Amino acid sequence: MNFAARITGTGSAFPRKHVTNDDIVQKLAELGIVTSDQWIRERTGISERRISDVDNPAEYNSSLGLSAAKNALDMAGKSADDINQIIYATCSPDTPLPSSACWLQHKINADNAWGMDINAACSGFIYGLSTAEKFIRTGQVKTALVVGAEVLNPIIDWEDRNSCILFGDGAGAAVVERVPSNSESRILDSHLRSDGHLWDLLHIPAGGSNMELTPERYVRKLHKIKMKGTELFKMAVKTLGDFALSILKKNQLTTDDLDWFVPHQANRRIIEAVANRLKLPMEKVLMNVDRYGNTSSATIPTVLDEANRDGRIKRGQTILLDAFGAGLTYGAMLMRW
Ligand code: ACO
Repeated sequence: MNFAARITGTGSAFPRKHVTNDDIVQKLAELGIVTSDQWIRERTGISERRISDVDNPAEYNSSLGLSAAKNALDMAGKSADDINQIIYATCSPDTPLPSSACWLQHKINADNAWGMDINAACSGFIYGLSTAEKFIRTGQVKTALVVGAEVLNPIIDWEDRNSCILFGDGAGAAVVERVPSNSESRILDSHLRSDGHLWDLLHIPAGGSNMELTPERYVRKLHKIKMKGTELFKMAVKTLGDFALSILKKNQLTTDDLDWFVPHQANRRIIEAVANRLKLPMEKVLMNVDRYGNTSSATIPTVLDEANRDGRIKRGQTILLDAFGAGLTYGAMLMRW
């Protein structure tokens, strides 16, 4: 292999509407369901999240993806014509068909690209980056656009206090470019895995081809997220830790070599437990879960973009991305920025 891949631009975009914990407390109270700002902050670390207006085309999944992509292209100094590949990670696409990658291609006019979606839930961005990197390494793609974007609002059960407090909407993107294989700045390695036996920890029963959404199923909310939070919590802490340690070991690195750890933003307590297991000081952990909640495939690219733009991330630094999601899916990626 003659090539390597590196990220040359990042971008993000969020819907305009801020929904605070108190907004949710009030909404649930109207239904007779009790929660509190204190409970949500203490148990999750989340203070607010952004929620898309699904009637506003500017806040469709692919529109948030478009804004994030434009920001990433601007930073990379590239135009839409330069993109050869669009990989769009999402579990909440605008439409079942066509793919979100095709919607984005249409909106951004990336006429020299081919595109596809990846549904690996919260691990989607790492799956996407890893896929793009393989195409770049083999020489088939020069410049890829990898997007992680979600509009989860319509699939959240706003009467389920266990899950509705967690999620938010948003999009992140990265421009990934071909560099020589000996480039200092490059994606070093990735480690992907899934365990389909654990499908029922987080799933949506209806709306696919095996359970058409009927009015009766709609009333039973079978098109909304069903989540086993405590089991997911335990699996997340274990596998995020295991994956981080195994990819570091494979690359003869230790946590001391890391400048930044970028975990999936599901719950601050999960992140703290993993950092504790890795003996990583929280100063090395990038987070935005407090302001955006769990935006699934968008958490990692939006955290990266924030820290890239404010100058915390610098060229030459070693960064570890680490995610888990519905499936279950798991992914870790090491890169030298
Ligand atoms: N407000 C007040 N009380 C609540 C709320 C709420 N919003 N939600 C649950 N409770 C109650 C429970 O009913 C329970 O009460 P009980 O003891 O009387 O039965 C009590 O609080 C404790 O509940 P637990 O479920 O044990 O609380 P826990 O500390 O595990 O926190 C949480 C729940 C936040 C869901 C946590 O388990 C979690 O974050 N899990 C991971 C979820 C996750 O990451 N999901 C996304 C997966 S990634 C993807 O692909 C999208």
